[in-house]
Amino acid sequence: MPTIAFVSPKGGVGKTTAALLLATELARGTRVTVVDADPNHPIQNWSKGADLPETLSVVADADEDSIIDRIEDAAADTPFVIVDLEGTAAKIVLLAVSQADLVIIPMQGSQLDAEQAGRAIRVLRQHEKMTGRAVPFGILLTRTSPIIRTRTMNHIQTGLEEAGVPVFATQLNEREAFRAMFSFRQTLEKLDVHEVTNLDKAIANAEHFAVEVVQRLRDGTRKPAPRRETAQ
Ligand SMILES: Nc1ncnc2c1ncn2[C@@H]1O[C@H](COP(=O)(O)OP(=O)(O)OP(=O)(O)O)[C@@H](O)[C@H]1O
Ligand SMILES: [Mg+2]
Repeated sequence: MPTIAFVSPKGGVGKTTAALLLATELARGTRVTVVDADPNHPIQNWSKGADLPETLSVVADADEDSIIDRIEDAAADTPFVIVDLEGTAAKIVLLAVSQADLVIIPMQGSQLDAEQAGRAIRVLRQHEKMTGRAVPFGILLTRTSPIIRTRTMNHIQTGLEEAGVPVFATQLNEREAFRAMFSFRQTLEKLDVHEVTNLDKAIANAEHFAVEVVQRLRDGTRKPAPRRETAQ
């Protein structure tokens, strides 16, 4: 069953936020396990006070020695597994990547972030060389303005596209709701529409992201069309 890992050596780019959004969106329709492999356990902490959907489980005892087992167990148990990692390029990332069907690299719109995203892509290439298996991946632009497209963002996006790097069409916008989810320990849907501005827009944004992830997984696992033999 699909395992999706959020990877970036840079801290604070939105891995945990995006991972929780995806997990809670998917959990509206199916069972999901989050493997919270960040030693600070942000998603486990969120889940402690949260009115957790029954379909969502959080596993937090994952370190370098146990992460492969934790992911395997979760994948045997629930249709989706989401892995949140700390901002590092340590061995645990390579181990998580080895189990992933899709790697999402969140990135904010700065040159510095683009360089760090490049490091994450190099980890994937290294994994491919080691194992012979290429893991599908995509860059997710995060904390973008829903109103203005900055020149830097345009420049970075063009650069990625020219380099043939897959970028999610959906961007996660800068939204108060995505922070409120953590402060109030709630899913987006359970936040109070009177307390959080543009909650409807945040929910629509999270839904689009989840739909695109599922689409990517389908595309990534689609078998290539059988090769037709040409008559000699
Ligand atoms: N789309 C967003 N809208 C508003 N705030 C956001 C968004 N994404 C992230 N943030 C905020 O930015 C900060 C860092 O986000 P987050 O913890 O998700 O990053 P991270 O990549 O998981 O960091 P780390 O590497 O430390 O684990 C948090 O305060 C979070 O609330
Ligand atoms: Mg995090």
